Amino acid sequence: MSAVPTYETVKIERDGATTFCILNRPEKRNAMSPQLHLDMCEALDWAAEDDETRVVVVTGAGGHFCAGQDLKLFFRANENDPKAFRKTSIASQAWRWDKLSRHPKPTIAMVHGYCFGGGFTPVIACDFAIAADDATFGLSEVNWGIIPGGLVAWAVTQIMNYRDAIYYSVTGERFSGKEAAAMKFVNKSVPVAELRDAVMSLARNLEAKNPLTVQFTKEAIRSVRGFNEDQALDYLDAKINALKHVDPDKGGDKAMKQFLDEKSFKPGLGEYKRT
Ligand code: COA
Repeated sequence: MSAVPTYETVKIERDGATTFCILNRPEKRNAMSPQLHLDMCEALDWAAEDDETRVVVVTGAGGHFCAGQDLKLFFRANENDPKAFRKTSIASQAWRWDKLSRHPKPTIAMVHGYCFGGGFTPVIACDFAIAADDATFGLSEVNWGIIPGGLVAWAVTQIMNYRDAIYYSVTGERFSGKEAAAMKFVNKSVPVAELRDAVMSLARNLEAKNPLTVQFTKEAIRSVRGFNEDQALDYLDAKINALKHVDPDKGGDKAMKQFLDEKSFKPGLGEYKRT
């Protein structure tokens, strides 16, 4: 395994072909400073290009996911410096939404402890989210006298139903990992002691799949949400052909042979043998 990069506020760890990008300001409950935004931009770009990374997990050090934007370093320190604020705002949106939601590798948010405000965006942008039963989620902006800006309000409406989005944004009421799973804000929740195993079990499943098929599938699901039926049909036809073009296994030809001719695998029950 090759060495991983080091950053001031983000820790990178490997577990097999799964790479953990860990928000690493535990003494501040992983509140997001300008430096953390810049570091996460670099870390996600690195993981996208790293040949040994098949799956990316985003989580926080010290038993918490993220206490939102760092009120002191992100907001107050830049109050009188619009240029600096603009630069870090761009980085803040870039990793929490653009880089995560368009990441070529499957991404999993592993949420424990606190997840507040701006910490919601990366949870939503990840393809999967698994939480500890006792994790605490809160759209606390309203408690600060502000609104869930920086895409948070938009992101929550992408994933929460309208009643929940309004309820939790306007009341600021907290909800647990268990409640997050019940409302499908996360895929599931487990006791905190089992959180890493649950994440790794999903990660190992994803690691074993054809990485190009995984990438094209997540891109397709993401894109078709905004399409009508004609657009979706046309786009998906083109996408299937594009996959055949770049995939050394030619979009399942090998799998077809293994199922129909060799009778060596059953697609309904598992993975075909790749080159
Ligand atoms: N911005 C800046 N600093 C933060 C922070 C944030 N969002 N969240 C936590 N911190 C800092 C605290 O100021 C404290 O710093 P200090 O040790 O220098 O005093 C340190 O992190 C630990 O926080 P503390 O409040 O002592 O820990 P706690 O476990 O009792 O409470 C929280 C944790 C997350 C409940 C509490 O810190 C909090 O409410 N933070 C703000 C969360 C929020 O609303 N975020 C969204 C912003 S819009």
